[in-house]
Amino acid sequence: MKNIVILISGGGSNMAAIVQTAVCERWADTLGARVAAVISNKAQAQGLVFAQGQGIATEVLDHRNFDSREAFDAALMARIDAQDPQGRPALVVLAGFMRILTPAFVDHYAGRLLNIHPSLLPAFTGLHTHRRAIEAGCKFAGATVHQVTAELDHGPILAQAVVPVLPNDDEHTLAARVLTQEHQMYPRAVAELLSKI
Ligand code: GAR
Repeated sequence: MKNIVILISGGGSNMAAIVQTAVCERWADTLGARVAAVISNKAQAQGLVFAQGQGIATEVLDHRNFDSREAFDAALMARIDAQDPQGRPALVVLAGFMRILTPAFVDHYAGRLLNIHPSLLPAFTGLHTHRRAIEAGCKFAGATVHQVTAELDHGPILAQAVVPVLPNDDEHTLAARVLTQEHQMYPRAVAELLSKI
C-alpha cells in the first residue's frame, strides 16, 4: 500500500478534499494508496477533527516545543516515517502547512513532497498572495500544485487552476474562489502522481 501523510496547520479543507476523493474513487483499490495519517503543528487545527471522524490517525507536533527549525523538522520526519512499514511514505502532502521546511527535510522526501500554493507561481510566492494579486491589478489569480524543493514556492509545477479577479473582490472573496478550485485540483494532482510511482 502506498501511504500518504498529509501535513496541515489549520482548516484542512484541501486535506478533506483529498480524503473524500480517496474514499469516493476507492484509491485503495484503484491506486493501491491510502491516507495513512494527518499531522498538524497546531493542536487547534480544525482539520484534525475531520480526519479523526474519517478514522485516520492524527498527530500534533507543536513547533514551539523545539529550539530550532532543524530539531522540529527532524522530529517531524520521524513521525512521518513511522507511518509507513517501509520507513518512508510514498507521498508527503503539504495542505496549508504553514512552516518553512529545512533543506534536510526537503532532501529526505525528494520527489515525493507536494505543496499547494494560493497563487499562479512563479508570481506571488510567500504570504498574502490574494491581497498582493489584487493590489497588483491582476485580472486572473489562482493556485499551483508543485513539487517542493529547497527554495520556497519554487519547485516544478504539476498543476495550476486559474480564476478571474472580479472588480469588487477583496482578499477574502478571491481566496474563497481560489480555494474552490484548489479542492478540485489537488486530489487530481495527487492521484496522477500516485499512478506514476
Ligand atoms: C490554502 O489556500 C492553501 O493554498 C494555502 O493555505 C490554504 C489552506 O487551506 N497554503 C499556503 O498558503 C501555503 N503557503 P486549508 O487548510 O483549508 O486547506
